[in-house]
Amino acid sequence: MTVKIAPSILSADFAQLGNEVKAIDEAGCDWIHIDVMDGHFVPNLTFGPPVIKAIRPWTKKTFDVHLMIDPAQPFLEDYAKAGADIIVVHAEADRHIDRSLQIIRSLGKKAGISLNPATPEGIIEYVIDKLDLVLVMSVNPGFGGQSFIESQVEKVARIRRMIGNRAIDLEVDGGVTPETAPRLIAAGANVLVAGSAVFKTKDYAGNIAAIRG
Ligand code: DX5
Ligand code: ZN
Repeated sequence: MTVKIAPSILSADFAQLGNEVKAIDEAGCDWIHIDVMDGHFVPNLTFGPPVIKAIRPWTKKTFDVHLMIDPAQPFLEDYAKAGADIIVVHAEADRHIDRSLQIIRSLGKKAGISLNPATPEGIIEYVIDKLDLVLVMSVNPGFGGQSFIESQVEKVARIRRMIGNRAIDLEVDGGVTPETAPRLIAAGANVLVAGSAVFKTKDYAGNIAAIRG
């Protein structure tokens, strides 16, 4: 299975965001991972639709929008209009996941669900056929640069078995480095998000290649 690398612009230089997006595009990333935080669902605040709209012209690559916001449902259309290709909602921030997934697809976008480290994978069972992506958080969402939570490797393997032959991407986010990536790929992940491991030095191409393995 080919692995996709999705650098998280949370670790980019926000004063140069357009140039940073262009730089990771040229460095060979597959998707651009965009962390939206509301200071309520997670203890950090980032940006919303206007910033996503502003960086949209800087690349043609897939915008993978990770919504760490509660509620998400009233804002799904705004993120679709801003240029998201994939919209990911958190299981813990949504009492009506099934409806949110339907709304995202009705907006013509790919629908994803994200699971915090403590959230069991069983929550996807009855919505699996409405999913284009499952995002396993291997840190507690809110900040870049945290340590990888090892227990999530087993969760990735279990979700890969649940997915079977469905066309659903299995993405992992948090503490992904050249050291942790091989275990995640072996467990069945096919999209790896990386913030600090990509932006730690200016050699974005080298850093992306090192995670790809
Ligand atoms: C954390 C975010 C991640 C974060 C990952 O809440 O969802 O995307 O940027 O950062 P690293 O790769 O540094 O752990
Ligand atoms: Zn993320």
